[in-house]
Amino acid sequence: MILVTGGAGYIGSHTCLELLNSGYEVTVIDNLSNSSSESLKRVEHLTGTEIIFYEGDIRDPQILNRIFSEHNIDAVIHFAGLKSVGESVDNPHLYYENNVTGSINLFKIMDKFSCKNLVFSSSATVYGEVKTVPVHENFPLAPTNPYGNTKRHIEDILKDISSADHSWSVSLLRYFNPIGAHESGRIGEDPRGIPNNLLPYISKVAAGKLSKLKVFGDDYDTPDGTGIRDYIHVVDLARGHIKALEKMKVLKGLITVNLGTGNGYSVFEVLRAFEIASKKTIPFVVTQRRTGDISVCYADVSYAKEILNWQAEFDINRMCTDIWRWQNQNPNGYED
Ligand code: NAD
Ligand code: UD1
Repeated sequence: MILVTGGAGYIGSHTCLELLNSGYEVTVIDNLSNSSSESLKRVEHLTGTEIIFYEGDIRDPQILNRIFSEHNIDAVIHFAGLKSVGESVDNPHLYYENNVTGSINLFKIMDKFSCKNLVFSSSATVYGEVKTVPVHENFPLAPTNPYGNTKRHIEDILKDISSADHSWSVSLLRYFNPIGAHESGRIGEDPRGIPNNLLPYISKVAAGKLSKLKVFGDDYDTPDGTGIRDYIHVVDLARGHIKALEKMKVLKGLITVNLGTGNGYSVFEVLRAFEIASKKTIPFVVTQRRTGDISVCYADVSYAKEILNWQAEFDINRMCTDIWRWQNQNPNGYED
């Protein structure tokens, strides 16, 4: 049985689907602070398999004790966390409390029940402003905001735990820019309010719900002047977690792995790909750079291939097509 924390969220729900399709049994804990349990109902429907769901908070030891007492948990995939950079700057207490304290609580209870297999959602944000690309796992870590700091702290805690006790098996997965949706159009990203990230914003513009995209700067040192990122399809990302679980069966200790495609796309390239996918013209205006944004970031993916035997399959066109299907079938996200 796999425990998925934050399993009702965007990446969590896609990973639950891949887990069930791979024959794993799944239990989810999620406090629904940034998600809806409807995502899990849809995953159950798509797979014809039940998910055991606990609505609760990873900061609450009682509910975690209950879950570990009631089920034989073999491994945990730990997605639960808050992820808005801007909110973390305004409210660092909340981010340290939710992400770091919540994680420590989880690791303590895992230890108590001798469940020492963990896959953790880290982020490319831990690298901060990189000097060269592609970004390799051994680059220095220099996050530039409280959200990124929480990821780095949790990574450090896990490094110390696995050094002290060699029976732990830990995968730190550093995601680049997850986008896309399941091809069924039944599950996808459903941000609350006005989206901060590029793809959810573009898709709302294409759907006519927002008037135009603001392109944050066209004076970067890139071929077309706009920022370049490594966008990765969420289904590829989810499959990377299954590979990490498989690896843990044969490998103890801690591994740190970038999950990206290794390809960078500019804002304008993404915009064009989305126009083709949606057959819509997407109005945009170039504005000032967003504070804290970097110019170029894409992954060195050679270690993922070597250690996990994993590489991304879906290209940017497929990512945009899947987002557009999800947007069209669910104009109001899971509220529909
Ligand atoms: P999400 O917000 O959709 O999912 C996170 C889930 O965790 C939500 O369902 C939320 O309700 C739940 N949650 C939050 N705090 C909790 C708590 N204390 N107890 C129980 N549940 C809690 O986000 P996502 O995009 O699916 O991201 C999943 C993980 O991946 C996060 O840890 C995030 O930081 C990390 N990550 C995301 C991205 C990205 O761009 N989406 C990039 C890198 C890393
Ligand atoms: C953001 C987060 C990062 C997180 C990542 C996850 C910030 C500062 N960083 O990174 O911590 O790990 O999401 O996916 O929030 N853009 C526009 N207009 C928009 C939105 C974005 O031009 O309305 C541009 C950005 O300047 C950037 C690119 O699109 O060049 C991608 O932006 P975004 O989707 O927000 O991701 P990141 O900035 O990489």
